[in-house]
Amino acid sequence: MTPISLTGIKPTGNPHIGNYFGMYKPAISLTEKYLGMYFIADYHALTSLHDPKELNQLVYEVAASWLALGLNLERSIFFRQSDIPEIPELTWILSCFTAKGLLNRAHAYKAAIDRNTETDRDPDDGINAGLFYYPVLMAADILLYNSDVVPVGLDQKQHIEITRDIADAFNRTYGKTLKLPEGVIQEDVQSIPGIDGRKMSKSYDNTIPIFAPEKQLRKQVMRIVTDSRTPDEPKDPDTCNLFGVYKFFATPERLAEVRQQYLQGGLAYGALKQELADLVLAYFATAREKYDTLIADRSYLDQVMRDGAEKARAVGKPVLARVRKAVGID
Ligand code: TRP
Repeated sequence: MTPISLTGIKPTGNPHIGNYFGMYKPAISLTEKYLGMYFIADYHALTSLHDPKELNQLVYEVAASWLALGLNLERSIFFRQSDIPEIPELTWILSCFTAKGLLNRAHAYKAAIDRNTETDRDPDDGINAGLFYYPVLMAADILLYNSDVVPVGLDQKQHIEITRDIADAFNRTYGKTLKLPEGVIQEDVQSIPGIDGRKMSKSYDNTIPIFAPEKQLRKQVMRIVTDSRTPDEPKDPDTCNLFGVYKFFATPERLAEVRQQYLQGGLAYGALKQELADLVLAYFATAREKYDTLIADRSYLDQVMRDGAEKARAVGKPVLARVRKAVGID
């Protein structure tokens, strides 16, 4: 059987080129070796997002983004977490094997407590139990499908460890029932500088969005911060964030040429930005077209997610059945 690689995606809209090279591209290429299971973690989003319209809109934006950026539906299963009724059931069962202390030590919960303590509030002020349970829900996501590997960023490493702890506690009670997953921590993912030179991130408002209207995309590229050197002056490409972005899109030959221009003098930032904007638009041309079509067709996206959920449930049901049997409620 093809091993399973599982990825949960928090619904946030407006993917940018940093997301593409850091997450979408590596995740999509995993389908060469694994059966990729990709789901939109809308139950997780509900711990902090309480606007129904926004939540729903974001789910469609994420779905359209993944499909537009090349997720192959023949080699993967794409679905929405809340379409899987087995998930809340498994979450509950697993919670009965989760040491409360383990959740007390979870980074996100601890950080929320710390913020309250620092501002002299009650430690649990404004913290819902869903946030506290977040790691258990995530363990259910992973364990329901017997996932082999879970590619995640470093910030999710603890969640994988908690998942393994929970599965282990269950297995120690009932014998080997759940598969312990391996976290694949993507530490060295290529990171693209944002237009201000910091890491590209929505929270810094320094992104180049993939699916924005052309004019807006070009504007962001033109806003990339550079120093005040004139075209004639020699410059260091390796400390220039314009070059840092450019190198993801140019051919090796053109890149070598531009590098020389930086070093010898003769490079105008404005012209290079224009060229970069053209390259970005060309690179994502197909994806951008697809996105526009997909985002306007909710019924198609619904159908994709429904089909995905059906396949995911077929993988998950036997596992839940084993769990129910093990605990004695089958
Ligand atoms: N917590 C993950 C994040 O914030 C999203 C997620 C939910 C997830 N369930 C998952 C990731 C299961 C991997 C596996 O990015």
